[in-house]
Amino acid sequence: MAEELIISNSTDKQQRYETLIPQIEALVSGEPDLIANLSNIVAALKQTMNFFWVGFYVVKNDQLVLGPFQGPIACTRIGLGKGVCGTSWKEKRTIIVPNVDEFPGHIACSSASKSEIVLPAFKSNEVFLVLDVDSDKLNDFDAVDEKYLDAVMRMVERFI
Ligand code: SME
Repeated sequence: MAEELIISNSTDKQQRYETLIPQIEALVSGEPDLIANLSNIVAALKQTMNFFWVGFYVVKNDQLVLGPFQGPIACTRIGLGKGVCGTSWKEKRTIIVPNVDEFPGHIACSSASKSEIVLPAFKSNEVFLVLDVDSDKLNDFDAVDEKYLDAVMRMVERFI
């Protein structure tokens, strides 16, 4: 396993993701433990992409429960259909929110959060967890983020 992350110094986020993805693959391959892998993934995303907040919420019975994350402290439980995370879980799809103030029911864990992307990972066709990324800038997520974070979620699906 790599012990030090190689971070592209490019200002182009696609380039940064391209450098990161194979390293995440290497980090999680051969390690079956859920918490260990989710923890390293959020740390690698934070270090490389410098996200304001990045973390997992894991489905436990009828709620999403906060999992490994990097950033300010966050709400611990989210119901089905609540906020962006609960909506992603309910609708089984990725959601990009350019302006959180315009998303009905958005849960503000931090008032500094301005835009957000949430992606689900599936086990046996059910959502097992979601990845939530928050930015302190408006309109900070696009198809490039969706493409690469989706690749991360497909890797997650191999060990959940
Ligand atoms: N904003 C999220 C809640 C989680 S925090 O942003 C870390 C939501 O509306 O589901």
